[in-house]
Amino acid sequence: MTASAMVAEFDDVAGWTADAVEQLGVRHAIPAACRGSASPAALAWLAEACELATGMRLLDVGAGVGGPAAWAAERFGVRPILLEPMPTARRAAQRLFGFPVIAADGRRIPLRAGSVDAAWCLGVLCTVRDKAAVLGEIHRVLKPGASLGLSVVVARRPQTLLAPDGNLFPTEDELTALLAEAGFDLLEQVDQPKGAPLSWARRVEQVAAVVATRHQGHPAYALAARQGERFARLFAAGQIATRLVHAVSRPA
Ligand SMILES: C[S@@+](CC[C@H](N)C(=O)[O-])C[C@H]1O[C@@H](n2cnc3c(N)ncnc32)[C@H](O)[C@@H]1O
Repeated sequence: MTASAMVAEFDDVAGWTADAVEQLGVRHAIPAACRGSASPAALAWLAEACELATGMRLLDVGAGVGGPAAWAAERFGVRPILLEPMPTARRAAQRLFGFPVIAADGRRIPLRAGSVDAAWCLGVLCTVRDKAAVLGEIHRVLKPGASLGLSVVVARRPQTLLAPDGNLFPTEDELTALLAEAGFDLLEQVDQPKGAPLSWARRVEQVAAVVATRHQGHPAYALAARQGERFARLFAAGQIATRLVHAVSRPA
């Protein structure tokens, strides 16, 4: 992704989102901080597939503002470890949820080999050119036999489409091959369930409305909005889809 589009979408809007949550109240935090379009149904699928349980160390690579990790901590009692390269997104996650956030790139995870019980990487791989390096690092830090939950935007056909800036959508076959090469067995995958209950969607909309009122004149807002519109067109045309994936780390 180009630097400016990435900073607009994943850093500027992340900070504005945390500001809006602080104005609207804490019940808005998790829905608004799920910035990979995750819904409770998608998160529940991933959590059940990965058999998350109290006390497990869950690494969230590309954690953004921390909504999915906070949801997993609240509902399943995991101990989240967030990793996020964008500074304002990291500060937003710390402000909203108080989690420690590792400042790092998924291609170089500063954790010991075999130190993590489960990992998530949601809405991240399509923004990363070197997907093999990210998956290889996640495999290194996971315990043998541990679960990886992914949410990945895939291209229905090998990529001929005009992707939003910097996005490189793998096909399902490419994703399967990448996982196998990184040392994962792919156990199961499904289309991401559509929609979220009104209670969730309304909070997301209220936060988005505050962000729009305050920042719609800002160039970064326009850039992020354009990215969103291009995504929406590709989804509507059936050229891309979001898949939820459960894979397990093969012992080395
Ligand atoms: C669509 S957002 C998803 C955020 C979060 N996972 C969620 O579902 O709410 C993608 C995130 O991936 C992060 N990201 C991009 N490239 C990355 C990389 N090389 N390593 C780790 N994270 C990365 C971005 O900074 C951004 O926070």
